Amino acid sequence: MQYRVTAAGRVFLVPAGMPLAQALNQQEPFVETPCGARGQCRKCLVRVLGEAPAPTPADREQLTPAELEQGLRLACQLRVDRDLTVAVVPAAALDPRKASLGRLTGPVEVDPWAPLRPSGRSLGLALDVGTTGIAGALLDLRTGEELAVHAALNPQAAYGADVMTRLSYAIQGEAQQAELTRAVREAAEALLGRLLRKAGAERGEVVAGTVVGNTAMHHLFLGLPVASLAAAPYTPAVTDGRLCDIPGFPPLYALPVVAGFVGADAVAAALAAELDEGDETVLLVDVGTNGEVLLRHAGRLYACSAPAGPAFEGGEISQGMRAGPGAIEAVRFDGTDLAVTVIPGRTAGGGLRSGGPAAARGICGSGLLDAAAALLEAGLMDRTGRLRPAGPAAHRLVEAGQAVALAPGVRLTQKDLRAFQLAKGAIRAGIEVLLRAAGIGASALDRVLLAGAFGNYLRRESAVATGLLPPVDPERILPIGNAAAAGAKLALLSRRARERAEALARSVQFVELATHPDFEEVFLEALNYPRAGAGA
Ligand code: FES
Repeated sequence: MQYRVTAAGRVFLVPAGMPLAQALNQQEPFVETPCGARGQCRKCLVRVLGEAPAPTPADREQLTPAELEQGLRLACQLRVDRDLTVAVVPAAALDPRKASLGRLTGPVEVDPWAPLRPSGRSLGLALDVGTTGIAGALLDLRTGEELAVHAALNPQAAYGADVMTRLSYAIQGEAQQAELTRAVREAAEALLGRLLRKAGAERGEVVAGTVVGNTAMHHLFLGLPVASLAAAPYTPAVTDGRLCDIPGFPPLYALPVVAGFVGADAVAAALAAELDEGDETVLLVDVGTNGEVLLRHAGRLYACSAPAGPAFEGGEISQGMRAGPGAIEAVRFDGTDLAVTVIPGRTAGGGLRSGGPAAARGICGSGLLDAAAALLEAGLMDRTGRLRPAGPAAHRLVEAGQAVALAPGVRLTQKDLRAFQLAKGAIRAGIEVLLRAAGIGASALDRVLLAGAFGNYLRRESAVATGLLPPVDPERILPIGNAAAAGAKLALLSRRARERAEALARSVQFVELATHPDFEEVFLEALNYPRAGAGA
């Protein structure tokens, strides 16, 4: 038995009982499922047009009564048992109830700055140009409805995995920089084409767009000079928000940047997280190669960039890998031994393959964080990060005590653990320096927001146990998904949001860690693991 599901102008034939998210994603990604379709992240939110099926327990847990009333449902939990017409909800990544981010999933104030077409649809493009991937969304500028989302790899990766390698290439000459600019623009243009096909829309209907990205990606996409970004003090060529005419695109508003390593993505994330409003003390952390840390306290906004390196993305870790099938994503100490959870793969028929330890091929960022916390708890690693043969799980130590066997064929070496320690130390030092700049301690933090994919997956208790985050109640730590992309959509849909982004960027007090007098001392302390029981 099959049912017809209509979404964004396309019809999907869906076997009875299949979860809606799986049905929509059969051919290509259509809705995001960053929590692994476990009903925990709201990112797969859809609005059922017409009579909506009864809410599931996860719907009731994640959605407010008003949202349920409006026909909102989690696509990952909805098992198709009838013909349906659904709309993907804009910026569903953020949880308004838990993170007080109502603007994004509540009614968005749709008042676009772009002139709309006198008749027919007027669409807008929100682009998030990342170092690894480019994400795009097509929105209806009259209703705010998200018609299509799509993601692609940034082809600049061929010129170097990280920002600095690409900048070094770009500064070799005009031709090299032009090559990088052309590569990313071509990929973004192809992505726009995919979005149009997904939404059943014409290029002429797209009247405006927004673009965010870290400062290097922003400059390379816009074709701005990058020489000053490639060497200390890493000064951007421009910082203001600007409307750009780029061939192949509608007029694009590029959000402002703050500094060489605090880019338009950070401004967009701060906008989405409403760091310019309210009077709570809020820390926003985007754990990445260049981790961005923002702190709002007493009406002021502080920001810094923490050079964490690629450890959280699996780089510099001997068996590190991105979160995908075969990656150890969680490690626990059960009182006697270490236990791992592995991301399962898919069988040829689309079912889930076993995710037991035997399926492990490597370890991803969340697994690494958990592993460090579990090793501390098991007594296999001391506060300085040195492995030691102690406790009931001591048999896990191999290679003359220089590695831990996590699963058949997967080891974490002392060197891996040192790389992790440097990464978490850099992020934590950035947090501490900002807390000092604001003259407060961690106990003053009302909320800690974790932006980016990693934030959705990491175990909050492990983040505190390893000292990646300061000692706060894990309940106050909230993953907010791709907040930069959410900010790009806001700035597209709302004139006021665009103005707020400008004001926000101007108000940020940028703290340069490399030259900060306290940084070395704070970093050395942040390298150590917290004393047992020093948590919140
Ligand atoms: S994918 Fe549905 S709630 Fe996360």
